[in-house]
Amino acid sequence: MRIIVIANQKGGCGKTTVTINLAACLAREGQRTLAVDLDPQGHCALGLAVPEEQIEVSIASVLANDPGKEATPDLSRVIWQISSNFDLIPSKTDLSLLERQLAGVEGRECRLRQALRSLEGRYDFVIIDTPPTIGFLTESALYAADEMIVPVDTGYFSLHGLSKQLETIRQKRTEWGQSITLRILANHYDVRTKLGREILAELRKRHGDAMFTAFINFNTKLKEGASLGQPITEYDPASAGCRDFVRFARELISLKPTERALTAPIVVTETKPPVAPTRTPEEQSLMARADALAADADKLLATTQTLIGGNRKPIESQPRPTPDDTARKIEQIYGPQAISGGVVFRVQALGAHRVQLAGDFNDWNPDRTPMQHVADDTFQIKVPLGPGRYRYRYVIDGQWRNDPANYQVETNPYGELNNILDVAAVGSIA
Ligand SMILES: Nc1ncnc2c1ncn2[C@@H]1O[C@H](COP(=O)(O)OP(=O)(O)OP(=O)(O)O)[C@@H](O)[C@H]1O
Ligand SMILES: [Mg+2]
Repeated sequence: MRIIVIANQKGGCGKTTVTINLAACLAREGQRTLAVDLDPQGHCALGLAVPEEQIEVSIASVLANDPGKEATPDLSRVIWQISSNFDLIPSKTDLSLLERQLAGVEGRECRLRQALRSLEGRYDFVIIDTPPTIGFLTESALYAADEMIVPVDTGYFSLHGLSKQLETIRQKRTEWGQSITLRILANHYDVRTKLGREILAELRKRHGDAMFTAFINFNTKLKEGASLGQPITEYDPASAGCRDFVRFARELISLKPTERALTAPIVVTETKPPVAPTRTPEEQSLMARADALAADADKLLATTQTLIGGNRKPIESQPRPTPDDTARKIEQIYGPQAISGGVVFRVQALGAHRVQLAGDFNDWNPDRTPMQHVADDTFQIKVPLGPGRYRYRYVIDGQWRNDPANYQVETNPYGELNNILDVAAVGSIA
């Protein structure tokens, strides 16, 4: 039984999409597969049409059980059959309360592994979906698994913080005296964009050994299937999205559990981007593209400020940006930015038709703050907010989402994650 965790701290990179569709394709290939949702947001159940109100016993009650004192709970009570060879352990929002409930309990992260190991012989693959945070739930999944797949979207932020995150995970496993097979899957790939091609090339250069040969293209059928509660094998088996996942599943089956993974220690380079002339031609072209993007961002910001009466200097009169400035600017293209008279929220939402903003500043009513479609896949809105701490989320074509450009999150009472925004003063977000 191969236990594989799907993890990446970055929200919206495709963890749930990969869990659902990989599991469905493994099952189609004749592998007995169990998907486990360890994210209190419950997106696996949503994506596979399991009604939350009918989930009576959840994985939370299994993990709450003290294996030292009580009998191992009967896992079959929490398993739902989705289709032939494909089962799911769904999550409910009660999972989010568990972290506090088990605070300080020794060995709490070992419980999931113990519970899953009781299913040995019943499944060929167990695929675990995790939330976009490193806390008790993700640590339990990391402890339970022998293999890890990191889905990476091939967009602007894919390389930011990735190596650091991979190294943190490896260090955690080393602390526990275990090793883990770590592999990377490129997702959201769009061959038509130069940036997408450059980022895939860069990923292969940095993490070549650990990259799956297969990758998942951006395909709207994957989004549609999820919103209708169907894996791609059911929603559109003839789609390019299904072909990509079948190819990926076959590659995974053909790899031995420890084959072709990250072996050498990961060099953490992101915090200080390399400077010329040590750059390779690929890096140079990536930075040239970054410069162009930063210029676009400036133009975008200049437009916004003209609309609201800002006093930014014209682009031409500003000094030429250094490479470090450029890298910083790229991070600032998306996410919230405090400017005179409020905060500009900007988000990239590939292929989206309608994007709204909801937060404690508008009673969580997305209809009050529809975002404007300002460029290709970019949506933006300015909200008049003064200094203070705010919580917010985006609603993309009806689905509530976290801001992938903002790592600051906290769990809300429904077990979902809100982004946090600390506005200290104009031009600065703490
Ligand atoms: N290859 C793809 N093509 C098109 N849409 C995709 C693809 N991968 C993911 N998506 C869409 O992107 C959005 C985010 O994906 P998903 O929910 O799988 O990310 P996640 O990492 O699980 O997010 P979170 O961190 O919030 O749990 C969803 O609307 C999903 O349908
Ligand atoms: Mg998810």
